Amino acid sequence: MIIEVEKLRKEFNGIVAVDGISFGVERGEIFGFLGPNGAGKTTTINILTTLLLPTSGTARIAGYDLLRQPAEVRRRIGLVPQEVVLEGDLTARENLVFHGMLYGLSRSQVERRIPELLELVELAERADSKVKTFSGGMKRRLELVKVLIHDPEVIFLDEPTVGLDPQTRRRIWEYIRLLNTEREVTVFLTTHYMEEAEQLCDRVCIIDHGRILDMGHPEELKRRLGERDIVEVELSEPCGGFLSRLESMGYRIKSVRGCRASIVAGRREKALAELFRLAGELGVSITSISVRAPTLEDVFIHYTGRGIRDEAGGDSRMRQIARRLKH
Ligand SMILES: Nc1ncnc2c1ncn2[C@@H]1O[C@H](COP(=O)(O)OP(=O)(O)O)[C@@H](O)[C@H]1O
Ligand SMILES: [Mg+2]
Repeated sequence: MIIEVEKLRKEFNGIVAVDGISFGVERGEIFGFLGPNGAGKTTTINILTTLLLPTSGTARIAGYDLLRQPAEVRRRIGLVPQEVVLEGDLTARENLVFHGMLYGLSRSQVERRIPELLELVELAERADSKVKTFSGGMKRRLELVKVLIHDPEVIFLDEPTVGLDPQTRRRIWEYIRLLNTEREVTVFLTTHYMEEAEQLCDRVCIIDHGRILDMGHPEELKRRLGERDIVEVELSEPCGGFLSRLESMGYRIKSVRGCRASIVAGRREKALAELFRLAGELGVSITSISVRAPTLEDVFIHYTGRGIRDEAGGDSRMRQIARRLKH
């Protein structure tokens, strides 16, 4: 295990941000923390990268204890924080030199590594352009290789694609995979995009309110739910009778919003036939219907009763605003 976390806990003035979590990350993995805003992802990353002290518990990274050997830990890790921390008035090359020198590398040592690193994220031609002329995706790519300058064993990426359009996001996933395979670097990332966790991570840890709800390969987490197919159906009003009849027939209804419902179907052919038959019998019309496989969102809903994104509009947004006003 390259990261071993043991009963890590962090309180801020009585608010528990990280609630005694334990987990391990294998060398070479892409490991993801998936959870809504306020789940404790950034706090965990800040502790593991020695920026923040835990209230209790500890972790070992690349064999070194976080609390007793923080300098050893720092030398072996890299962090890409959520906000871009590049110098816009410097060129891509100058940003890398500057960062390398912070890690005690000489200018010539850094210069030697730059072409290869920029090549990796297809920025070699822009080496001498000022970073302020870069797009959001280009900045992210530069940040991804900036943290590789001192050859870390583990890199921590806090919401690496937040604020990027879907196409740019996919490209960033490709680059993260490339760093992981070509440079053999272990990746610990956080995200609130379930698709990012599903597509990119070898293992995912689902967290909420500072606690681990489940952990494993995305497919394994979904399989554990035991939901083979999910039918999304929209009915004409009134539909209450329809849904209660379905439940009495043994179907589990995952969620209902007005007359839109998500229903767990054992076998899709049988379920669809039964739904249409019942609709005919009760005189309810089905205005739309689709069948899909379960996602990590379903895993999250299974444990919490709400969606990962539901949170974004709710109380956590108020909390964020309150936090911003405080600073
Ligand atoms: N410096 C801080 N002071 C007080 N509360 C904090 C601080 N940092 C984070 N929190 C709180 O800890 C919880 C977890 O936050 P955070 O780790 O940023 O979550 P995430 O990154 O998953 O969105 C939230 O309730 C947040 O308001
Ligand atoms: Mg965060």
